[in-house]
Amino acid sequence: METGHTPVMKKEIEQFLISSLPDKAIVVDATLGAGGHAECLLKHLASHGGRLIAFDMDKQSLEQARQRLAEYGNALVCVNENFANIAAVLLRLGIDKINGLVADLGISSMQVDNGERGFSFQSPGPLDMRMGESAPRTAAEIVNTYSEEELFRIIKTYGEERWSRRIVRRIIFERENAPITTTDRLADIIIKAVPVRFRYKSKIHPATRTFQALRMEVNEELDSLEQLLEDMGAILAPGGRAAIISFHSLEDRMVKQVFRELKKTGEFEILTKKPLTADEEEIDENRRARSAKLRVIEKTKGGFHEQTQK
Ligand SMILES: C[S@@+](CC[C@H](N)C(=O)[O-])C[C@H]1O[C@@H](n2cnc3c(N)ncnc32)[C@H](O)[C@@H]1O
Repeated sequence: METGHTPVMKKEIEQFLISSLPDKAIVVDATLGAGGHAECLLKHLASHGGRLIAFDMDKQSLEQARQRLAEYGNALVCVNENFANIAAVLLRLGIDKINGLVADLGISSMQVDNGERGFSFQSPGPLDMRMGESAPRTAAEIVNTYSEEELFRIIKTYGEERWSRRIVRRIIFERENAPITTTDRLADIIIKAVPVRFRYKSKIHPATRTFQALRMEVNEELDSLEQLLEDMGAILAPGGRAAIISFHSLEDRMVKQVFRELKKTGEFEILTKKPLTADEEEIDENRRARSAKLRVIEKTKGGFHEQTQK
């Protein structure tokens, strides 16, 4: 089954994560999506007696990936949960420690391409953007009810949008006429807010950054990442590795800081001094790869904790 989503930095995941796995490894894919990374992991795990626990808070994506990967049988356990709940889910599954973790943050091409989900400024649809049912509000609720200052903070911080003040003012003006409920109307409002001479100057569509910011707010993406990173250190087994692929500077900074803190405990080794990025060939083939940053950390075998426990 063709998914339309190409896994990012697959080679590097094989090199840094899969090659280090022991037999009977238990690995978590925190972001199953179309199952691209999961498939690479399962090829190895299924032939070495291992298991993959795969999270996706998007029921539709999870179901499609489960069907696509059905040949791997019990080696794949799918969980329709936010990866922020990783500790509780592993406890429920009776898993104490894992040997590997991969997280490929953000949304998949399948989600973007489905206009009905409201992620895309290029396909008309309801202004929704919820990845899962647990998201507290839709993008339309945010756009129509948040104050000018709250909208400005989100679009400026998460979107790093140069024209955030102008965009927010235009949104406030337009929503007074009629609530903004569709992706195409919002995209139109944003285009009009950007000064004419800058509208088509950038390589990206003028609505790209605002849509990204709203998506991050709708799905509380930074909060979920913070929770995952907080629990990661405790659930990795000695020798276990975590590989995090991020696409936003705030996410990458958060990963970098947590990795540094973990290293200070003396129980972890950072395997990527600088974040790895996709090579030119990959970027040519997959535009999504251009802003990917991969960081990998390992829980070292002879950590202080382990020695005192023996
Ligand atoms: C970029 S895609 C992953 C693509 C996947 N690695 C592949 O190769 O096909 C990210 C997926 O993670 C899911 N996701 C994002 N944040 C999540 C979270 N906090 N908890 C669970 N799933 C999440 C999204 O719904 C999406 O399907």
